[in-house]
Amino acid sequence: MKIVFATNNRHKLDEIQKITEGKIEILSLSDIDCYEEIPETGITLEENAMMKAQFIKDKFGFDCFADDTGLEVDALDGAPGVYSSRYAGEACNPQDNMEKMLRVLESKKNRKARFRTVIALLLNGRQYFFEGEINGEIIEEKRGTAGFGYDPIFLPEGFDKTFAELGDEVKNSISHRAIATSKLIDFLLSI
Ligand code: IMP
Repeated sequence: MKIVFATNNRHKLDEIQKITEGKIEILSLSDIDCYEEIPETGITLEENAMMKAQFIKDKFGFDCFADDTGLEVDALDGAPGVYSSRYAGEACNPQDNMEKMLRVLESKKNRKARFRTVIALLLNGRQYFFEGEINGEIIEEKRGTAGFGYDPIFLPEGFDKTFAELGDEVKNSISHRAIATSKLIDFLLSI
């Protein structure tokens, strides 16, 4: 079985290639000579993930899966969600995003939040979705240097360290993405 993973993130690709080695051939975007920007204009994580998978199927003819992740904050009615990477504006960086989040939540008592990952798979003409989430809270100041994105301000439930303090190994064993990815892998290995 050959499936494309529609991501430019080498780390995500390596991880899943290692787990499925010998059983499923996971191709990268460069393996299929796809160097164009894949549209991500959906308004939900599900829509965005499937849009990316469908783009590859339509243009390159391969079965494909793609992921999309968002930080959903209760006091903000689930925002920034699908807009997490550009919360502080189109040209912003993770520091801008975290600073905006800390400012917006300054007077809020309810700081509950979750990361949610959706993986959309297009296989043999059928659509499948796999979801992973991790609950936690947004703390009042940044702590830690590992990871990326909102990691320094996200305290996962049951831990007293932020994702950025826990480091990649621990984070990758409990994260939203790890949960969704393991559901996808179980499915792919079962068919
Ligand atoms: P993507 O769909 O994986 O590209 O994630 C979209 C955005 O969500 C990223 O640009 C980050 O701002 C945020 N994000 C996703 N996953 C994580 C994570 O594991 N830690 C912190 N922020 C994340």
